[in-house]
Amino acid sequence: MSQSHADAAIAAAPEYVRHEGLKQWVGKIAALTEPDRVVWCDGSVEEYDRLCAEMVESGMLIKLDETKRPNSYLAWSDPSDVARVEDRTFICSKDRGDAGPTNNWEEPEGMRETLEDLFARSMHGRTMYVIPFSMGPLGSPIAHIGVEITDSPYVVANMRTMTRMGRGAVEALGSDGEFVPCVHSVGAPLAHGEKDSRWPCNPTTKYIVHFPETREIWSYGSGYGGNALLGKKCFALRIASTMARDEGWLAEHMLILGVENPQGEKTYVAAAFPSACGKTNFAMLIPPQSFDGWKITTVGDDIAWIKPRKDAEGTTRFYAINPEAGFFGVAPGTSEKTNYNAMATLRENVIFTNVALTDDGDVWWEGMSKEAPAHLLDWQGKDWTPEIAAETGRKAAHPNARFTAPASQCPSIDPAWEDPAGVPISAFIFGGRRATTVPLVYQAFNWNFGVYMAATLGSETTAAAFGAQGVVRRDPFAMLPFCGYHMGDYFNHWLKMGHVVEDTPRIFCVNWFRINEEGKFMWPGFGENMRVLKWIVDRCKGHIPAKETALGWMPRFEDLDWSGSDVTKAEFEALTKIDTEAWSHELASHKEWFDKLQDRLPRQLVLKRELFELALNTD
Ligand code: OXD
Ligand code: MN
Repeated sequence: MSQSHADAAIAAAPEYVRHEGLKQWVGKIAALTEPDRVVWCDGSVEEYDRLCAEMVESGMLIKLDETKRPNSYLAWSDPSDVARVEDRTFICSKDRGDAGPTNNWEEPEGMRETLEDLFARSMHGRTMYVIPFSMGPLGSPIAHIGVEITDSPYVVANMRTMTRMGRGAVEALGSDGEFVPCVHSVGAPLAHGEKDSRWPCNPTTKYIVHFPETREIWSYGSGYGGNALLGKKCFALRIASTMARDEGWLAEHMLILGVENPQGEKTYVAAAFPSACGKTNFAMLIPPQSFDGWKITTVGDDIAWIKPRKDAEGTTRFYAINPEAGFFGVAPGTSEKTNYNAMATLRENVIFTNVALTDDGDVWWEGMSKEAPAHLLDWQGKDWTPEIAAETGRKAAHPNARFTAPASQCPSIDPAWEDPAGVPISAFIFGGRRATTVPLVYQAFNWNFGVYMAATLGSETTAAAFGAQGVVRRDPFAMLPFCGYHMGDYFNHWLKMGHVVEDTPRIFCVNWFRINEEGKFMWPGFGENMRVLKWIVDRCKGHIPAKETALGWMPRFEDLDWSGSDVTKAEFEALTKIDTEAWSHELASHKEWFDKLQDRLPRQLVLKRELFELALNTD
């Protein structure tokens, strides 16, 4: 511990920092990590430009061609540091039971000792950056503030796009506001005179640690994505889910979108899908041409914070904000065809990570265009040609390659996306990747049935190979890797939240991924999902009837708008078929999953499963 480091860190604070507790904490972390210098980030464009220029100089970023991709950069990570590390992610609650069987747990005091050892002098030779940030629009009653300390300039640049970062967040904090402290180090101290690597990280030791009771985050060893941009999965989901449980709101792995009908009426829905199920595509959907006058607007593509509040008429409803300010999306598979709005968002001011570099200074990834360029540098900087790919199977972009882009650049961004009051939520939609069993769409009979459906949400672990069926992993509420406490308690919280609002959102399940006997997707997906979305919105408004089934309410063929579509009635029947035998296996697998949660599983859900079984057998 070095007092001189603490003093220097505190002395470096700009005069607008009035929060003594914040300064003392920054001093403490500087004393522990002993950085060469400390920079308090103000979030200005000058600061961003300076940091990016420094990273270009050091080789961490490549500046892309200014005419092709203005103000944009490319980073290539260490091959050992390419994704979130779920097996190195810990929830260190005092009581093991509070973390539950779906989280890695370690005893907090022991973990604190481990972290003290790892972080001691971990920033030698580096700059320590202090990043104050707001998750959600500054000053919103739904927003919360965090401060991340990091030794990675790449993290600073990404956080500026992904959050409201800098002076505004410090001012919102005032002299005694609450903030979530987030400490991050790439875990690669530099000896005196040692040359830095292009992507410093610790190839062998990684820890992503959450202390839910004290609302702290400590991340060591990785510079990538959700491991390092601590506002996202660590704060906005794992820590925020525990805050939400304690304070009576919801922090969810959900996109938020608005559906506007030709009369200009707007309905907002929030939708949860496990990772890699096309959330960004759904959030930015463009309706088919035949849907004249219909518009989809985007509020968020990954996370929703939802609080109950009275509307102008005095009815309590859920209002949601997107706590993020940017999109950190998966690049491969994104094209003008699959997601026009995402591609338009990526025209400028983007940081790309682990995509390929074209010979003319632009980026490329698998799926971006039908034909690959004749020559590229792949995500590891090696020569790549379509011939090499055919021979070796080597990808030009890493499958988890990412873009970091400001949400404000998205053509479909909703005019209310930064409204501090949030947008009113009329429906929750849950969907996974299921080759069989789960129909295209159904609506839960009531809130508690909806919670059951979300609690048993399943998704195939691998994209189902044609003809083959993937392994189903239960991913309740698409929150399996992101819930900061016991999943059984989380279900209970959801059951309770159904009572705090008067206008309870309707709950729906969807499945875009059903496969026929020939191994082909039965549903065209993408913009065509609008047909299902329109039915959902109409159901929320009580406009249209539906068929009662064992699973819930389902559309009949004539209930969906098929204008401009070539889906036949027979195909629709196949897409919505309830296979009783498959469902009885499904319910058995729900039981296995529930057994894991044991005594904390709400009794209500056990009863719902039994009811389901009865309904299925008598249908
Ligand atoms: C993500 C994820 O990156 O859910 O958003 O994994
Ligand atoms: Mn996600």
